[in-house]
Amino acid sequence: MSIKDIFETMDYGPAPEAAGEALDWIARHEGGFGQFINGDFTAPGALFETKNPATGEVLAQVSQASDADIAAAVKAARTAQGKWEKAGGKARARVLYALARLVQKHARLFAVLETLDSGKPVREARDIDVPLVARHFYYHAGMAQLMEAELPERAALGVCAQVIPWNFPLLMLAWKVAPALAMGNTVVLKPAEYTPLTALLLAELCVQAGVPKGVLNVLTGDGAVGAALVADEGVDKVAFTGSTEVGRRIREATAGQGKALTLELGGKSPFLVFEDADIDSAIEGLVDAIWFNGGQVCCAGSRLLVQEGIADTFLTRLKTRMENLRIGDPLDKCIDMGAIVDPVQLERIQSLVAGTSAEVFQPGPAPQGCFYPPTLITGLSSSDALMQEEIFGPVLVAMTFRTPAEGLALANDTRYGLAASIWSENINTALDLAPKLQAGVIWVNGTNMFDAAAGFGGLRESGFGREGGWEGLMAYTRPAATRKALKPQEPYSGKPGAADGLDRTAKLYIGGKQARPDGGYTRTVWGKSGAVLGEVPVANRKDLRNAVEAAHAAKGWSATTGHLRAQILYYLAENLEARAPEFAAKLDALHGDRHGKTEVEAAISRLFTYAAWADKYAGDLRAVPIRGMALATRQPVGVIGALCPDEAPLLGLISTLAPAIAMGNRVVLAASQVGPLVATDLYQVLDTSDVPSGVVNILTGSHAELAPVMAAHMDIDAVWSFSSTDLSATIEKASAGNLKRTWVNNAKARDWFGPEGEGREFLDAATEVKTIWVPYGA
Ligand code: NAI
Repeated sequence: MSIKDIFETMDYGPAPEAAGEALDWIARHEGGFGQFINGDFTAPGALFETKNPATGEVLAQVSQASDADIAAAVKAARTAQGKWEKAGGKARARVLYALARLVQKHARLFAVLETLDSGKPVREARDIDVPLVARHFYYHAGMAQLMEAELPERAALGVCAQVIPWNFPLLMLAWKVAPALAMGNTVVLKPAEYTPLTALLLAELCVQAGVPKGVLNVLTGDGAVGAALVADEGVDKVAFTGSTEVGRRIREATAGQGKALTLELGGKSPFLVFEDADIDSAIEGLVDAIWFNGGQVCCAGSRLLVQEGIADTFLTRLKTRMENLRIGDPLDKCIDMGAIVDPVQLERIQSLVAGTSAEVFQPGPAPQGCFYPPTLITGLSSSDALMQEEIFGPVLVAMTFRTPAEGLALANDTRYGLAASIWSENINTALDLAPKLQAGVIWVNGTNMFDAAAGFGGLRESGFGREGGWEGLMAYTRPAATRKALKPQEPYSGKPGAADGLDRTAKLYIGGKQARPDGGYTRTVWGKSGAVLGEVPVANRKDLRNAVEAAHAAKGWSATTGHLRAQILYYLAENLEARAPEFAAKLDALHGDRHGKTEVEAAISRLFTYAAWADKYAGDLRAVPIRGMALATRQPVGVIGALCPDEAPLLGLISTLAPAIAMGNRVVLAASQVGPLVATDLYQVLDTSDVPSGVVNILTGSHAELAPVMAAHMDIDAVWSFSSTDLSATIEKASAGNLKRTWVNNAKARDWFGPEGEGREFLDAATEVKTIWVPYGA
């Protein structure tokens, strides 16, 4: 036999990782695991089994948390929180650092235990999951150290309920627990029912690391435990990773409870390969994109879009590569694909694939048991269920495209928006598309790159909020100042009559034109003295729809430069200034006082503030430990619907409009219910300031009537409510339809004249962080 023959016929031998240490750890908890509450395990309760999916063997018994357990865990977290926050960032940093060290020390135990419980290849657990877990604790130890200096006006949110899935049990724990603890919160974590073990091991190590009692609590159990936990009144923040369906349910269940919420949900991420791509690299990338963790990855590159000219070659070479993927015992270090987490998930994958009449390629049968072979499905069209539904298994669906424009359109033809991967050796193609792909994370000539310094999270039905980076921290803090209750502000009333004998019926402002209300209804606006000041239209759902359409048509605004937007905002300020006395007089007539001038001046200054910001909030570069860079770019959210403050009719409207349009959004605003006439007087100012039509649309009418329509509208990307009518619950609930971002006041007052009336809180709400990973020399 020649050396050449040996090379060609050589195969991998078995290289199993020893499971003894992990099994010993389980055995030490003989009889099963209780809940980890207040620094200790409770006695086991109603037990259920957690199995090794690769063998079907029972690994351990864990307990289904009872209502009393949930209450006890939340109480322990609440009791511990004040002291943990007061201990200060530097003290917390030491604890997180110790935890990072312990994760490294026990890396092998964690990797093996994770593999036993989830079925993922130990190579992945060892080389990806566990090192990233340690990285997250190190990184956030640093954030804790810097918190007081860098985030002086932020405070901890309180008690965080964190519900995580089974695909990255320990990594998702780290993504959520590390920033929460760093910022002074305490946590009640619920791991997925299939994969609770590494969370329990980490909880145990927390004692050694010096995490005080009650700071991290772990509750095991099924979805019912998750549902009860997130609804618990003692919880201040909910962070969830899992299916879009459950995310939506959590959005509805927590609506109006004043809880902060971040949702990291499903995806159907495109993997775009251009004719000029390095095909071998792209194929290896694709192996990582869709067969990493057996495709059980929220950001899996599960939709292959390949340019027509190379499609045949690419698919042929891909099939050859698939034939060489090794599936089997996840503890074997040479295995590419392990087991599917549970027979339930396996059946789901099988039934989704069985339902297609398209061409299915599988290189061979999977081993007996809970395994599924790598699968490629071709001949689909973009609207087919398999191109749209998240399969969450090793199944790749593929289509071709001809031009970059078509590739982009297909890539964005999804209700999700988690990640996207672009493969091209042409820097122009790659970097031209990166900002246009609608996803929270973009990889250029790469895939599935993650780091604690780089924000991760989605758009649209992939959820909202970011994990990692500074933006991830914000989701675990709140402004430090406490806010007073906001009382409903009733419009002034008076006797019917005409205003100054003139017809003063204002109109709506839609698409740069004054429009009559669809319903034809108007309402009288009175001043405090009872004088009739004018009539304003009462906008209905049709008017709102028209306004949203106009806002969508103005999408060019989002592609303008910050420099241009700054100039328009300056111009707006100038034009408002030219008419300042008139606006001041309007406000004085409304409120019967002489404060109008102050409000107008504050509004002009606010426009200057956001003109200043328009070209200075573009994002930054993240130091990630790879030969590449992660650009954290700030992108506009899209179309924002906002209910303007009632208490400061002009300043409130400007404070809402200006940050939104400065960052490139288009807005549909419902003007103050108390003083809508200053809004209608603004139309001319907008017209003369070169604000393109459709960028700002203004409606007048009842906030209570407009809010649910805004929140349910599928083409609105975010809803903000500063209304004095408390519509927080209505908006949060109705927003679950397209999982739009919401920013509601929970009936809390904001001082529009002071620092809390402007600044980064608004800019953050007006932007999405999109992380773009680009190859870069060291
Ligand atoms: P799931 O979304 O039901 O479960 C995720 C976590 O949420 C688990 O800890 C579960 O116990 C908990 N949970 C379930 N119902 C809940 C509720 N009403 N309130 C609060 N917590 C609740 O995901 P599942 O059933 O395990 O998988 C189903 C599908 O979801 C998968 O096939 C996949 O498509 C998707 N999925 C997506 C993930 C992602 O990372 N985006 C992760 C896991 C699943």
